[in-house]
Amino acid sequence: GDIAQRAGTGSIPDSDRIDAALAGAYERARRHDEGAVADYIPILARADAHAFGLCVAQGDGRLHEVGDTRIPFSIQSISKVFVYALLCDAIGRQRALEVVGVNNTGSAFNSVIAIELNRGHPMNPMVNAGAIATTAMLPGATTEANWHLVQTGLSRFAGRDLIVDDEVYRSESATNERNRAIAELLSSYGRIEGDPLAALDVYTRQCSLLVDARDLAVMGATLAHGGVNPVTGERVVSADVCRDALAVLAASGLYERSGEWLFDIGLPGKSGVSGGIVTVAPGKGGLGAYSPPLDSAGNSVRGQIATAYLTRALGLNLF
Ligand code: DON
Repeated sequence: GDIAQRAGTGSIPDSDRIDAALAGAYERARRHDEGAVADYIPILARADAHAFGLCVAQGDGRLHEVGDTRIPFSIQSISKVFVYALLCDAIGRQRALEVVGVNNTGSAFNSVIAIELNRGHPMNPMVNAGAIATTAMLPGATTEANWHLVQTGLSRFAGRDLIVDDEVYRSESATNERNRAIAELLSSYGRIEGDPLAALDVYTRQCSLLVDARDLAVMGATLAHGGVNPVTGERVVSADVCRDALAVLAASGLYERSGEWLFDIGLPGKSGVSGGIVTVAPGKGGLGAYSPPLDSAGNSVRGQIATAYLTRALGLNLF
């Protein structure tokens, strides 16, 4: 019944309800034109502020789409959760827990002072410091081997071969002084083994991988279904790893706004500065949203509004 669904324990919503909820979410969120497209990575400023797409991927691989779900954009910070899952799958959760942690910093995604206040501990894998440390810990023998693990791993989450947008990669590489400082600072605390700038380069490439809203939905649905991609049927990571990655998202997926997000939406989610948000309904499916204008914490305005509407309409809140 209705109450069970509101508590997040209901059955998986049927296709017609999903389509109706998606249409409602799209119409409501579309009217909002607050927020600003990110421009600290120069090329991101060229994004179409009106582009807006939503996609739900169900556990049986069915997709529901509305709007611009096939416009490619760089995945940016959303890559962090999938690389973290790949790392935990490869080396186990304990070592990753010791080095990068699972607590929210309460600070912005690119905060330097948060690192200093915690004696070089990045606190969690979703802020830039923790993500760079995560990428640095991948078990490849060389930088290129680590990049290969990232590219093939994220492609398996998406169910297709993801490629780097070279312009985005070059634009960020030329302007990422702050991330260089973060990588060097982590290295000074002994939190990165090997060349910190080589790890940063893999991180910058991973952020430049092109996805669309449909890819985000499938990637989210893979986390929702214990690590098996519902479209390809391939196991990407273990079920235990998915549980851990989703717990980290619940605490830190939307940076210093993670509490408000969980309070409002009640599901793990991850945002990126190009305007994507992936939301995961465990056991049910994934939602991919794309709309470039961001709020002051770097989270898509329309993506948040649409996700809140959709999850309420479908009774997906876990609590
Ligand atoms: O490292 C950076 O700053 C970007 N490559 C990614 C940041 C990001 O997506 C933050 N999200 N809202």
